[in-house]
Amino acid sequence: MISDLNEIFSTNAKHMKKSVIRELLKLTRRPEVISFAGGLPDPAAFPIDEVAEITAHVLKTQGPTALQYGPTEGDSRLKDELIAHHEREDGTQLKPENVLITVASQQGLDLTGKVFIDRDDYVIVGLPTYVGGLGAFGSYGARMIGIELDDEGMRMDLLESELERMRKKRQKPKFIYVVPDFQNPAGITMSEERRLKLIELARKYDVLIHRGQSVQRAALRRGDPEVHLRSGRNRPRHRAAHVLEDTVPRHEARLDDR
Ligand SMILES: Cc1ncc(COP(=O)(O)O)c(C=O)c1O
Repeated sequence: MISDLNEIFSTNAKHMKKSVIRELLKLTRRPEVISFAGGLPDPAAFPIDEVAEITAHVLKTQGPTALQYGPTEGDSRLKDELIAHHEREDGTQLKPENVLITVASQQGLDLTGKVFIDRDDYVIVGLPTYVGGLGAFGSYGARMIGIELDDEGMRMDLLESELERMRKKRQKPKFIYVVPDFQNPAGITMSEERRLKLIELARKYDVLIHRGQSVQRAALRRGDPEVHLRSGRNRPRHRAAHVLEDTVPRHEARLDDR
């Protein structure tokens, strides 16, 4: 029998830190705590009857297929629906191979880490940024470089000097992680000017952008700045930025390569 499991943990596991989200969620279970820390939806808004009805319908009409193993990259009809949705929303034209259905955005963040990060690689993040992103990238040994935010989002002057500084040292971050809409935890929505500058810098320094999109669609009001960090029929100016996107609550991750 192994006497100490700690001795055989992988290097990645040894570098893992306690999940901040797990600790936050524990607190929300205590009835005396009204937590503003985790982005918990109002349970009164859960469409329980509709979900029950749809589940019963699917089990009745497609039970064996629904309960069977399916394609790893996601159900093709669901992907088609999402592709049509993006086309309608902002003219983005996606192919099925650009879409990967994951179990929550956290799996998308983890996959980004697994696919792109080697130990001691650099990743640029907002200062502050979403703890789930930090946890996922950190577990693969990323070194996080924080770029301060102000009222308009990540400061592009600081980002540019950091990218330039790195270039001089022949270094390059694996990607820039941004949450442009209602940033977590700062709540800031990035201005259009900053978004365009971010894309310009990503192209100039040839760096991938990972865009975290959490509550954007849920909360948009008329007049809110909304410029997607991707190309698409309506946004030809954005062409050639490489954007990897994780979307909540639709639980999809997308790899655009254009
Ligand atoms: C930027 C961001 N990404 C992801 C999430 C959570 O996504 P999921 O629950 O799908 O892992 C949140 C939740 O607050 C978030 O703010």
